[in-house]
Amino acid sequence: MRALVQQAKIHLRRAALGAGRIVGPHGSQQLASAYGLYEIGAWMRDHCSRTPLIVGEEFDVYLVAAERMATASRPLYLEFGVFQGRSLRWWSSHLMQPNAQLIGFDSFAGLPHDWIGDFDKGALATPPASLRRPTRRTRRWLVRGHAAHLRRA
Ligand SMILES: C[S@@+](CC[C@H](N)C(=O)[O-])C[C@H]1O[C@@H](n2cnc3c(N)ncnc32)[C@H](O)[C@@H]1O
Repeated sequence: MRALVQQAKIHLRRAALGAGRIVGPHGSQQLASAYGLYEIGAWMRDHCSRTPLIVGEEFDVYLVAAERMATASRPLYLEFGVFQGRSLRWWSSHLMQPNAQLIGFDSFAGLPHDWIGDFDKGALATPPASLRRPTRRTRRWLVRGHAAHLRRA
C-alpha cells in the first residue's frame, strides 16, 4: 500500500510538472483549482466515506441537486457569493415550487484577499445596484455583508 501511494505521488508530480510546462495563464488557474480538489480529497479521506459525484461542469452538479430538491415542499436556497447573480438566477428558474425562498449573501465589495490565478483582492466587486433587482415575484433576496460577520442565530 505504501509503495502504491509513493507511486501515485510520483505520477502526480510528473503530471503536474508536465502540465505546468504546456499550459498558459488560464491553465495555471485550472491547476490551482485542481489543487483545491486535491485538498478537498484529503479532507474527505478523514471526514467522509461517501464516493463523490464527479461531473463535467458546474451546472451539471446543480442539475443533480435540483432534482433532489424537486420534492421539497418549501425549499430554502442560500448562496454565499452572488457576484452578478448568474447562479442565483439559475436556481430561481429551476426551483419551481412557488414558495421556494432564495437568499444570496455577498459583500459586493469583491474578494477579501488574493485568490487563484488573476483574481486579486478586490476582484469581482459588484455594486448591487447593477444587479437585476430581486423581487417578491422572483422569490430572491440579497443580503449585503461580509461572511465573517455572519453568526449562528
Ligand atoms: C466567484 S464569485 C460568485 C459567482 C456566482 N456564484 C456565480 O456563479 O455567478 C464570488 C463572490 O463572493 C464574494 N465574496 C468572497 N468572499 C467573501 C466574503 N468573505 N464575504 C462576503 N462575500 C464574499 C465576492 O464579492 C464575489 O461576488
